Amino acid sequence: MRFSLNVDHIALLRNARGETQPDPVTAALLAEQAGVDGIVVHLREDRRHINERDLRLLRELITTKLDLEMAATDEIIKIACDVAPELATIVPEKRQELTTEGGISVIDNITKLKSAINDLHNSDIEVSLFIEPDIDQIDAAAQISSDYIEIHTGVFANAISEEEQFDELEKIRLAVKHAKKLGLGVNAGHGLNYQNIKIFRELADIDEVSIGQAVIARSVFVGLNQAIKEMINLIG
Ligand code: PXP
Repeated sequence: MRFSLNVDHIALLRNARGETQPDPVTAALLAEQAGVDGIVVHLREDRRHINERDLRLLRELITTKLDLEMAATDEIIKIACDVAPELATIVPEKRQELTTEGGISVIDNITKLKSAINDLHNSDIEVSLFIEPDIDQIDAAAQISSDYIEIHTGVFANAISEEEQFDELEKIRLAVKHAKKLGLGVNAGHGLNYQNIKIFRELADIDEVSIGQAVIARSVFVGLNQAIKEMINLIG
């Protein structure tokens, strides 16, 4: 299982004072040195954390792999095609949300997503769709030639009982199996942390986990290098 680090929160902290530090690009370079397999950023419509300068510098400087989380809007698709990350992960975006709240409905947005995937593929960018662990959504993602899905793990992460956590893990296990059978790559993310990753890593067929909050929060106390190495050790 590969591990990509989301550095949006570094940019959020920088923007809190409207100044230049801490710089998410520096964080990404340090994260690569600590051993992550890729860097993830979400260029939001409101630019509340990552901005275009960050994105372009990351494209130029990182040597692992860039995963751009994005809404399927004309503006962001155009930027993505120009910057050419290795992967574009399409997420639903609501202006008021604190973070992405759940997966996108591929079924309800099939025409828009098909066109976005076409545009991104024409620029040699692989595409992932951030979805719930739902068989029908996975079928729809395969139907419109998505390369990957990213399974939303927020429900698993926020489960309040062991039973609920087990049920959600089972759903994810079936979703991974189904997606793999259809030839899709499978990533996962949202709410994964130093505790729940221990159970989650049993799902060995998952290609990559995308983690932000837990690792950036821990890095405040122990430093980015150690926070990343601890997570890499847990992922195994
Ligand atoms: N994957 C997606 C699609 C996300 O939107 C986010 C949050 O930015 C993550 C993964 C990482 O979630 P977290 O910050 O909770 O680790």
